[in-house]
Amino acid sequence: MNNIFWHETVLSKDERQKQKGHKSAILWFTGLSGSGKSTLANAVERKLYEKKVHSYLLDGDNVRHGLNKDLGFSDQDRQENIRRIGEVSKLFVDAGIVVLTAFISPFREDRDQVRQLVAEEEFIEIYVKCSLEECERRDPKGLYQKARAGKIPFFTGISSPYEEPTAPALTIETDRFSLDESVDQVVQYLKKRSIV
Ligand code: PPS
Repeated sequence: MNNIFWHETVLSKDERQKQKGHKSAILWFTGLSGSGKSTLANAVERKLYEKKVHSYLLDGDNVRHGLNKDLGFSDQDRQENIRRIGEVSKLFVDAGIVVLTAFISPFREDRDQVRQLVAEEEFIEIYVKCSLEECERRDPKGLYQKARAGKIPFFTGISSPYEEPTAPALTIETDRFSLDESVDQVVQYLKKRSIV
């Protein structure tokens, strides 16, 4: 990069974390549309808030209304979507905040690029696992029905791939456990890792 220089900030991440009283991290929720990413991430964030953890939730649909409104659903656009979210998440981690992200993020390589942006222990991949059949049965936004009718091109799970995580920190099976049980599994993990 020409004529661009990195400036060290006066305040460090450590100082910001100490002030908040907890570590910062990315809780990266990934899974099919309708798997329950947003529902679970929202419920976990509520629990973190009750524990006085400073957090922020970045959600696929919402981010695509603003920061990423120029992106569609081709492989390249999804890659750029996740790249930008990764960079934004890194800023949150630097700010001492626990950031929760709820994006399909269907490609392993894109998720691994984000993983590499922060320290190993700061990227927590949470696979929100739910069978395609159950996601289609739920179809909360009617998108699967439209996709099956050929009205949505490149729909994840139907006409665009989803690559399952190979070694996620956590797998939450939302077609087997209740929302409360799923939230508990995430919070217990964060306690074990001394994040909350
Ligand atoms: S990605 O793959 O990570 O870039 O997708 P993401 O930013 O999470 O956006 C997913 C939400 O966009 C809606 N939507 C689609 N999803 C998948 N495939 C296609 N073609 C598509 N078109 C629109 C859908 O509401 C997704 O929301 P969730 O919450 O996952 O159901």
